[in-house]
Amino acid sequence: MVEELLRFNAVLRFAVFLAFLSFSNGAALSSDADIPTNAQYFNTKTRYQDFNTYLRENILAINISAVKPPAPTCTPVHFTIIARHGTRFPTAENIKKIAAFDDLVKTEANGDLSYLSELKAWKMWYKEDMAGHLTETGREDHIHLAQRMVETFPSLLTKENLQGGRVKFITSSVPRCINSTLSFQLGLKEWFHLEGSVLVGIAGVEFPYTVNDTLMRFFASCERFVETVLNNPEAAIQATLFKNGPEMETVQRKVADLLQIPYDKFTADLAETGFYLCAYEWTIRGLNSPWCRLYDRADAEVVDYASDLGLYYKRGYGHKIDSMASCVLFNDLFNRLEKAANEFRAGQPVSEVVTVEIGHAETLLPLVTLLGLFKDKTPLTADNYASQLNRAFNSGHIVPYIGNLLAALYDCPDGFRLQLRVNERPVEVPGLDEFSPLFKDVKEQYQQILGCNQEISEKRVINSSIKELESQPY
Ligand SMILES: *[C@@H]1O[C@H](CO)[C@@H](O)[C@H](O)[C@H]1NC(C)=O
Ligand SMILES: *[C@@H]1O[C@H](CO)[C@@H](O)[C@H](O)[C@H]1NC(C)=O
Ligand SMILES: *[C@@H]1O[C@H](CO)[C@@H](O)[C@H](O)[C@H]1NC(C)=O
Ligand SMILES: *[C@@H]1O[C@H](CO)[C@@H](O)[C@H](O)[C@H]1NC(C)=O
Repeated sequence: MVEELLRFNAVLRFAVFLAFLSFSNGAALSSDADIPTNAQYFNTKTRYQDFNTYLRENILAINISAVKPPAPTCTPVHFTIIARHGTRFPTAENIKKIAAFDDLVKTEANGDLSYLSELKAWKMWYKEDMAGHLTETGREDHIHLAQRMVETFPSLLTKENLQGGRVKFITSSVPRCINSTLSFQLGLKEWFHLEGSVLVGIAGVEFPYTVNDTLMRFFASCERFVETVLNNPEAAIQATLFKNGPEMETVQRKVADLLQIPYDKFTADLAETGFYLCAYEWTIRGLNSPWCRLYDRADAEVVDYASDLGLYYKRGYGHKIDSMASCVLFNDLFNRLEKAANEFRAGQPVSEVVTVEIGHAETLLPLVTLLGLFKDKTPLTADNYASQLNRAFNSGHIVPYIGNLLAALYDCPDGFRLQLRVNERPVEVPGLDEFSPLFKDVKEQYQQILGCNQEISEKRVINSSIKELESQPY
């Protein structure tokens, strides 16, 4: 009886939840006009479903042909997913910038722009105590990601494996990541009806998680990296040059003209702030706000590139040390895969069937870079904007909110095979040019990185002079 009530309660809650979902999605879909035209250029502030647009219609949809095993005869043995936290509020610094931008528009903007009154009527509502927190939409992001993972790997992400402690959760210590981990777990509890019930006085199941910043925030502990790249303005000089360059100036002047604000008061920083305000209003509140109308497609592409340049040099291919800092996470991943393979080979139960790791954009970008993914033939620079419009290193495609890298190990007739997926899309292992290569070939391909450690990467001194940096395009 109690058991039945519990199930009923959970099923009912789930049904209500689904009804809500289809309602909110229905609303979002009612016309494309409700979606900001620049929603795909919000860089790291992109909604996951604005990249994987098939999710707009059904947030639990799976692309069956993208998540197939290497062959029908293969059995999944283990998967690890390394995901970014969900949608978040702006940081304290950005809240201040938004306030300054809003203030400037309220006091200085003029003219006959048809939506100027809407801009002036907008109420600043971002408060410092929300800064960096996970939003309600961010919680949903992870609930749904968890449920799509169950659908994708129904034989691995099972109730039995969850309750048997064979699903491991690791998170960065940053509160939005911990809340994302709890949301992912909540998605699983809802799915498997393990939530408990206040009604009949049954406590929900709690799953443990481990905080591990060595893995999820390696970038903060790698001194050499912090010193030579993060605290070195010259390391991302290309981003600075672009921000002061002709493309950004065009955007700046165009928006300043629309608002009739003098050019000297409307900096490149403010032009960026208005664009990301449009992004925040969309991702957090689902609003296509009047701020979005200030920026057309061409403007959006420029602001997006400005952000990518910074990330390319601080977290990507710009300097070798950016990605080397992630080698601790890289090796940890391969150790997990190896352990699962060994246990399976020995006919033992696999002790860790699923690993869920929650971190940051700064966790994932160096890792995909170390793996050699999303590498452009020509490095991104301040003066090759036009030729980089279809660049591979596009943060909105790699690290939107809940951006994720998944490694799935399969037992196949000819040995273990590994699939890598980024944001639930298969990616070829660089150098092997194959979607499901043999695990042993993957290890061979990455032989030089396997066994690396942060100390080695810390010893890699990079010369911070501009000339040197430009001649080191990794
Ligand atoms: C589904 O995945 C296949 C194979 O990766 C891909 O070709 C196709 O475009 C995907 N469909 C959608 C709707 O994304
Ligand atoms: C985490 O979630 C709790 C409630 O579930 C909320 O009160 C808190 O503000 C959240 N913290 C962050 C940093 O998102
Ligand atoms: C974090 O992960 C590293 C690498 O696997 C491991 O050596 C370390 O013991 C872990 N720390 C904690 C607190 O679990
Ligand atoms: C970096 O390079 C510049 C010129 O290329 C040189 O003058 C300087 O000594 C170098 N610094 C280090 C720490 O090697």
